[in-house]
Amino acid sequence: MAKDWNPASWRSMPIEQVPDYPDPMALADTEKKLATYPPLVFAGEARKLTRALGEVAEGRGFLLQGGDCAESFAEHGADNIRDFFRAFLQMAVVLTFGASQPVVKVGRIAGQFAKPRSSNNETRDGKTLPSYRGDIINGIEFDEASRIPSPERQIEAYRQSAATLNLLRAFAQGGYANLENVHQWMLGFVGGSPEAERYRALADRISETMNFMRAIGINSENHPSLRETDFFTSHEALLLGYEEALTRVDSTSGDWYATSGHMIWIGDRTRQEDNAHVEFCRGIKNPIGLKCGPSLEPDALLRLIDRLNPENKAGRLTLITRFGHEKVDAHLPKLIRAVEREGRKVVWSCDPMHGNTITLNHYKTRPFDRILSEVESFFAVHRAEGTHAGGIHIEMTGKDVTECTGGARPVLAEDLSDRYHTHCDPRLNANQALELAFLVAELLKDDHAAAPSQQQAVIR
Ligand code: TRP
Ligand code: MN
Repeated sequence: MAKDWNPASWRSMPIEQVPDYPDPMALADTEKKLATYPPLVFAGEARKLTRALGEVAEGRGFLLQGGDCAESFAEHGADNIRDFFRAFLQMAVVLTFGASQPVVKVGRIAGQFAKPRSSNNETRDGKTLPSYRGDIINGIEFDEASRIPSPERQIEAYRQSAATLNLLRAFAQGGYANLENVHQWMLGFVGGSPEAERYRALADRISETMNFMRAIGINSENHPSLRETDFFTSHEALLLGYEEALTRVDSTSGDWYATSGHMIWIGDRTRQEDNAHVEFCRGIKNPIGLKCGPSLEPDALLRLIDRLNPENKAGRLTLITRFGHEKVDAHLPKLIRAVEREGRKVVWSCDPMHGNTITLNHYKTRPFDRILSEVESFFAVHRAEGTHAGGIHIEMTGKDVTECTGGARPVLAEDLSDRYHTHCDPRLNANQALELAFLVAELLKDDHAAAPSQQQAVIR
């Protein structure tokens, strides 16, 4: 177990991004209540994810992590969850084929409620109120009452996470994730895409492979692995009181686990090595993500790695880099070299969203081309350094929203107002997300042409 650590040891450290709860007693009561509630995930599942990510760290898998920027109470319908999962699974199939490797499937879902903000306040038409910090903390409506942090919201976030996770488990294990279905959906997407020509070649090869498997008697009736998939949850561990309340000892190992989700990550704004968020995460055994932005220097990264993964366990730590499409070359190589020099085992994942946000017509948006360009640079740098481009981390939805511009069926600047629904940052819509998967699959294929020894046959 981590030295001098307990689930509350973060409380004596400096901390950023703390909501100003007007009633600390009510907050303490809520946390006490949450601490008696059942865990949302089970330690054995988190260990399974660490093992799967360990394979990615060793170059034998690819991580797909994605979902909402911020989940909301208003959009908690079965359709939303289903449509997200449907798009996500199609991406996973395309990437599995492109990589010829297992794809580790991790949603930003069932707990992704708390948001770090660049400013404590927001001003509109001369009126200043506390910033919106995510539905687990306060309301998005711009009025005084909504913006007051309310502890009760933590209970609602917990319950929504439980319900979401319950449905996702059913989808993942109950037949919805059947490869045959996912394959058919994917063909539907390709058929309707203006870029059909480009995606058809890869889609056809997946179809041939499926036909071949069927011909030799491998089908979803006799191979459960074809109709089921392992799906994991993740979120930013920002609201530490909530996280602490859901941190439990695993009776089989005696270790502490965050049971609010399988994987949790530390944001780029809260990764100061002597601060509360790093302190909390170092003591729990779940796989941890660390967002790495342009201000992170190699020495600071190595100190963070020391703290978060002192045993150098592959799969424990995923570095999620988010520089902006033109900054990858200036920042990624030096981080990779430091990590390689010190022999640290990490998963390298690319978040092409957060460094590429711009404002157009008063909307926060992200041009699809820049998102793709950041992923391409990420792959190119890893190829040049001889390291494994291990995953992507994206903000996406299964719905046909107009939040990011561009794509094959382009969303234009003037379309942004049509279906701009996000509670925080702009997300790829279902078509844009799938398109990105096809383009990343091409990059993965190129990587394998460069390193054929890493190829693996996969039925999991
Ligand atoms: N079980 C395998 C896997 O998760 C194959 C599989 C079944 C699959 N359904 C899927 C892969 C849906 C991607 C998407 O990799
Ligand atoms: Mn975001």
